[in-house]
Amino acid sequence: MCGIVGYIGKRKAYPILIKGLHRLEYRGYDSAGVALINEQGQLNVYKAKGKVAELEAFCESKDTGGTIGIAHTRWATHGEPNTVNAHPHYSESERLAIIHNGIIENYAVLKAGLMEQGYTFKSDTDTEVLVQLVEYTQVNQHVDLKTAVQLALQQVIGAYAIAILDKTHPDTLIAARKGSPLVVGIGEDEYFLASDATPIVEYTDQVIYIEDEEVVRLSTKGQSTKDKGIDITTINNVTKTPEIKRLELSLSQLEKGGYPHFMLKEIFEQPRTLTDSMRGRVNVRQDNIALSGFIDNKDRFLNAKRIIITACGTSWHAGLIAMYAIEEFAQIPVEVEYSSEFRYRKPVINKDDVVIAISQSGETADTLAAIQLAKSKGAFIFSICNVVGASIPRISDSGCYTHVGPEIGVASTKAFTAQVVALTMLALCIGKEKGTLTEEQFIRIVRELGQIPDKIERVLGQNKRIADFAKTFTYAQNFIYLGRGYNYPVAMEGALKLKEISYIHAEGYPAAEMKHGPIALISQEMPVVVVAPHCGTYEKVVSNIQEIKARKGRVIAVVTEGDELVSKIADYIIEVPQTEECLTPLLTVIPLQLLAYHIAVVKGCDVDQPRNLAKSVTVE
Ligand code: AGP
Repeated sequence: MCGIVGYIGKRKAYPILIKGLHRLEYRGYDSAGVALINEQGQLNVYKAKGKVAELEAFCESKDTGGTIGIAHTRWATHGEPNTVNAHPHYSESERLAIIHNGIIENYAVLKAGLMEQGYTFKSDTDTEVLVQLVEYTQVNQHVDLKTAVQLALQQVIGAYAIAILDKTHPDTLIAARKGSPLVVGIGEDEYFLASDATPIVEYTDQVIYIEDEEVVRLSTKGQSTKDKGIDITTINNVTKTPEIKRLELSLSQLEKGGYPHFMLKEIFEQPRTLTDSMRGRVNVRQDNIALSGFIDNKDRFLNAKRIIITACGTSWHAGLIAMYAIEEFAQIPVEVEYSSEFRYRKPVINKDDVVIAISQSGETADTLAAIQLAKSKGAFIFSICNVVGASIPRISDSGCYTHVGPEIGVASTKAFTAQVVALTMLALCIGKEKGTLTEEQFIRIVRELGQIPDKIERVLGQNKRIADFAKTFTYAQNFIYLGRGYNYPVAMEGALKLKEISYIHAEGYPAAEMKHGPIALISQEMPVVVVAPHCGTYEKVVSNIQEIKARKGRVIAVVTEGDELVSKIADYIIEVPQTEECLTPLLTVIPLQLLAYHIAVVKGCDVDQPRNLAKSVTVE
């Protein structure tokens, strides 16, 4: 996700800002920029697509003077990753400059209103709308910058962390947040601002964590409260007392949010990342889903004779779950293809086919080639991707971004659950539009979708217990993972997680397949993980577990809270809350992510960068 850095004080701002951007590079980004007010009162904005190093090269010949500035690394959400869309953004008069991390859901409405007032826009970003709104408010209501920011943010729906400068007030830096983090560092007659403490920790350990809907003014002279030049109010101008905390984490720990590995951080981010993924799309109050990629292409989906899903690895598992949902709710035949096979086996592809490509990175070579083939045959390409402007979404006809921020751990976790949510939303929209899904079913599942982040939070609460019993399985050379229905792909995903980070061989199977060979493998030496939530063919899964126990197999079962049957026969139980059958994968996969993680950690494996693996397989 985007990174924010700000500085106001006695030193040259530019070196501090650039170093701060480097500190935030781990968050992932596609462009960077800086705004500085120099000694002559000029507001200079410099931006570059690509890495911070490219911004530095661009700035070498520029005036980078000044003791106040803001800087930004952008993870594109609205608008392609390019220089025009990079932050900071000027206001119309070029008196203001803003940087922003977050998504403004109602930016289109705000933009239309400003255009009616004669404002023009250079970029496709929601951020530029915000800085124009602040300037419009300042000019028309004759208020200072901070008040204009408060009034403008009262009109904003969505998430933001912003920093804004006014070249006519070079002694003041204004910042605000809602939903995206912001930290103030307090130095000696200088202040630092950042998305997290990594750019700040080398200058000071005194920080203030800004809370939602708070606006902070950092000033090096003029008004100064007991905290010397800092005042914090809400967007409704209620004064807040800054709470100064002492930083206790190292730089490396800070980059991982205090977690030992990016993978664990990303597993624990899932309640928030799914909330972000559903933001502006799932509206529980109105019992509605607004998926622009579907709305703009309804006919293609409604007239589709077949949907082909093409992906690799974890994304392929998400596609398998989508097959169950789309066929159940939309009654359209679905084929799920490994991209590497699909692209070479001379498949039959028709013009009325819809091809859904699923890819976290948007750069997987086989998936890219698969949709290029499908496109050449006239099929409609819809992609589910996490990286705005990546190759796969760029050649797709439409799509849906998962908006979970960069996934650093090679083993995909938060991207997977977001892919499942996106695909479930799509299946529900098609089914509702076709009438193959009743209004009552649609509303029931939409409301339950809104509950999923909290329910995942409850599953994460079992992390310590899972860590404890994971230690007893590090001896194993092989695992089998079993599931039925929506949870058969979850069994495969759990097996892949274990394989790729602990190097223990594991296979995922439909539970009923045991009788067709694998049951010959059952022994005490090979743990069996069974995904057995109380839905669908639960009784059949119970029988499968009994067959395994009868042959002295050791069973770890993922069950629904309050389960009384499996709990009596399995060796280890992990409970997940009750939910709609089609949403069970979002809960049952969490214990499997944690189990794989803890086994790998006990084995001393490199969890974030497992051997032989790349985060994105951009070659065949
Ligand atoms: C998943 O944990 C793996 N890292 C891998 O299977 C991955 O899902 C696969 O390479 C597909 O990547 P993509 O989603 O970026 O296309």
